[in-house]
Amino acid sequence: MATARLCVLVVVLSATAAEDFTLKYKPSTKPVRLFTEEELERYDGSVEGHPIYMAVKGVVFDVTKGKEFYGKGAAYNALVGKDSTRAVAKMSLDPADLTSDTTGLTDEQLESLDSIFEETYKTKYPIVGYTASRILTGDGSPDAAFTPEDQPHFQIKDEF
Ligand code: HEM
Repeated sequence: MATARLCVLVVVLSATAAEDFTLKYKPSTKPVRLFTEEELERYDGSVEGHPIYMAVKGVVFDVTKGKEFYGKGAAYNALVGKDSTRAVAKMSLDPADLTSDTTGLTDEQLESLDSIFEETYKTKYPIVGYTASRILTGDGSPDAAFTPEDQPHFQIKDEF
């Protein structure tokens, strides 16, 4: 009898644990989308009525609601359809700065980048995915050199 009771208890406990696991690890209904450079280019604001996307620090934002800044012929149209991290950090529209490359940026520029990333992009625009080059190498395999915890200017935990 005692054994039977114990068994019931064990079954109930494992059922609860399984439920917890399912709730915690339920796959997201919105899978993360990875954008290649070519895919991101399609969202450059050139087609009226189409969504406009822009990446900052490898995070792709839907900036369509900022059409007055980013749409065709608008002041910041050069920034969209690509990762413009460097341009945002330097507040520059120089074509040479329209890249994700942060090499040689000053501490001040990196701080400015982080605050615009947090206060403008993350608060104002929905995240629609990530650039493939942030995570993968050119041939599509995982970039062994990419370790989220070692990226001082990425706050991976908040973004994924
Ligand atoms: C004379 C130079 C500039 C002036 C007077 C200016 C002015 C402004 C103003 C007033 C806003 C805020 C608009 C609003 O929230 O309604 C803004 C936003 C912005 N500016 Fe500039 N800007 C200048 C140059 C630049 C340059 C060179 C860049 C290059 C990256 C830049 C990038 C941005 C970005 C990314 C935003 C945020 C747009 C958003 O909210 O999505 N600006 N600028």
